[in-house]
Amino acid sequence: MCGIVGYLGDGNVYEILINGLKRLEYRGYDSAGIALVSPEGKLNVYKTLGKVSNLEAYCRDKNLTARAGIAHTRWATHGEPSDCNAHPHYSEDGRLALVHNGTIENYQVLREALQQHGCHFSTQTDTEVLVQLIEYIRTSNSCTLIEAVREALKQVVGAYAVAIVERGNPDTIIAARKSSPLVVGIGDGETFLGSDGTPFIEYTDKVVYVQDDEIAVITRDQPLKIINLDNEETKVDVKKLEFSIAQLEKGGYDHFMLKEIFEQPSTLTDCIRGRVVDNAQRVLLNGVFDHKEKFMDCNRIIVVACGTSWHAGLLGKQLIQDLCAIPVEVEYASEFRYSHPVITERDIVIAVSQSGETADTLAAIQIAKAKGAFVYGISNVVGASIPRETHSGTYIHVGPEIGVASTKAFTGQVTVFTLLALAIAQLRGTLTQPQIAEVSGHLQQIPHYVKETLKLNDKIRQLSLIYTYARNFLYLGRGYSYPVALEGALKLKEISYIHAEGYPAAEMKHGPIALIDSEMPSVIIAPHDHLYDKIVSNVQQVKSRGGSIIAIVTKGDTVIRDLADHVLEVPDVPECLTPLITSIPLQLLSYYIAINKGKDVDMPRNLAKSVTVE
Ligand code: F6R
Repeated sequence: MCGIVGYLGDGNVYEILINGLKRLEYRGYDSAGIALVSPEGKLNVYKTLGKVSNLEAYCRDKNLTARAGIAHTRWATHGEPSDCNAHPHYSEDGRLALVHNGTIENYQVLREALQQHGCHFSTQTDTEVLVQLIEYIRTSNSCTLIEAVREALKQVVGAYAVAIVERGNPDTIIAARKSSPLVVGIGDGETFLGSDGTPFIEYTDKVVYVQDDEIAVITRDQPLKIINLDNEETKVDVKKLEFSIAQLEKGGYDHFMLKEIFEQPSTLTDCIRGRVVDNAQRVLLNGVFDHKEKFMDCNRIIVVACGTSWHAGLLGKQLIQDLCAIPVEVEYASEFRYSHPVITERDIVIAVSQSGETADTLAAIQIAKAKGAFVYGISNVVGASIPRETHSGTYIHVGPEIGVASTKAFTGQVTVFTLLALAIAQLRGTLTQPQIAEVSGHLQQIPHYVKETLKLNDKIRQLSLIYTYARNFLYLGRGYSYPVALEGALKLKEISYIHAEGYPAAEMKHGPIALIDSEMPSVIIAPHDHLYDKIVSNVQQVKSRGGSIIAIVTKGDTVIRDLADHVLEVPDVPECLTPLITSIPLQLLSYYIAINKGKDVDMPRNLAKSVTVE
């Protein structure tokens, strides 16, 4: 969701910025733009609706010489997607160009005040208000640009990551952040900016994560300077980026999504590595053991997350309740933050987020912390805001997830929840040592079983042809398979735009059963678990109403085989680990249906990878 790139140095500014924007395409966007400051100080802004390739075509005959520049992919919030509303935005006198990620909540008030002072606006965006405000403060207070930026940001309510360049000054970029990610890359005589490290990974792995209310001042031939809004200089804390360029490429697959589905045997191996120890007798999770007393003392866990991460949270609830006997609630972060939650110091709040930047999840963390809860993060992106904001946590370590539809991050999150439940059970003694060893041993085998399950690929590709033109789908499951049904339905609707609903199978008779006819396929997740006999009845209920059935069953199943139209057999694993296996065929099914329909699976319409606005 919106992406920022910046560069100051002797390299080819335009190419570095355009390639950086392409790396950020996965975040989701509708328009793109670039501002270049030429060696003589001329400020050129080019922007277009649509893909970065449109911007490239538009720029072909333009003046692209530059010493510094900033660039942006926009995901519309205020004002429709259009050439005009795309970033960068200018101040009215054309002296400043600014790109912005986030939302300025009080933009209307600021806009009206500026209009009263004679400012004119040419776009509907909140961003134009910010750039005009900076320029207005600078001219009316006769102050420096940095002073004007500090003053303007003090007046702004909302979330932002911004980068600013100035006509007549090819040697400076100013950037700032509040609740929206921003990373500075330190090269050899050159400096980069990005919403994350992906735009510049081939140039440097040295990064500085700009913190809330900080301003980064990037000046040619000078070290990076970071100040806060009160003009106090803060320490420049250089960290190492933890991924490689190969992880950002498709590696021979047609799409990132397919690559990421097939990567799961190795990503889950990475996720488990060093965490199941002593011949699978024990689980080692430092984030838990470093805060033993919190986990010993806690009497309730609340999981906050959005989307797929919320589905992983539902599975976390079952795992923790089953293995640790601690009550768990799972909340949408967006609801939790406005629900006046009752939280005590004996609650642990677990925030789950692949990107580590989701605005609602971050806000939920702030609330939980303010109320005294201990907050534990489960994230993928190292150094992102959520791992930094939480008291402790565990990375899923599945590598960059580029496909907008989450696949390997989901199984990574569920794996970490399994490790977490085992670690807590070990601490609190809710499982015996042999029980811990049994689950841990099977967990270690999961990458192998995922690999086996991926052999269903060709069968699923064939099967997808039969269902490509279905207009609705029902996904049904019970127990551990219910969140898997929700996730399967979400995957299908996200990338194929087919309406799909996930339901607890037994709830079907309280309403959705009315939808079932020969046109409405049901995907039923029915591994061999303690609810198997129950779900067989649900399969029969669908069958007797003429609905077609695709069933995910355990290898060797005979009962459902006779009832379903199609069965996909998966390896037999303990009940609490089934989601790690049964979710795989659903990922493939949604992928192939979307491909058959000619959809852009890696960048589905309207969706963003990193949802940094409310
Ligand atoms: C679905 C998907 C989204 C995200 C949600 C939360 O495939 O990717 O539903 O799960 O936007 O994002 P994170 O996990 O980054 O907080």
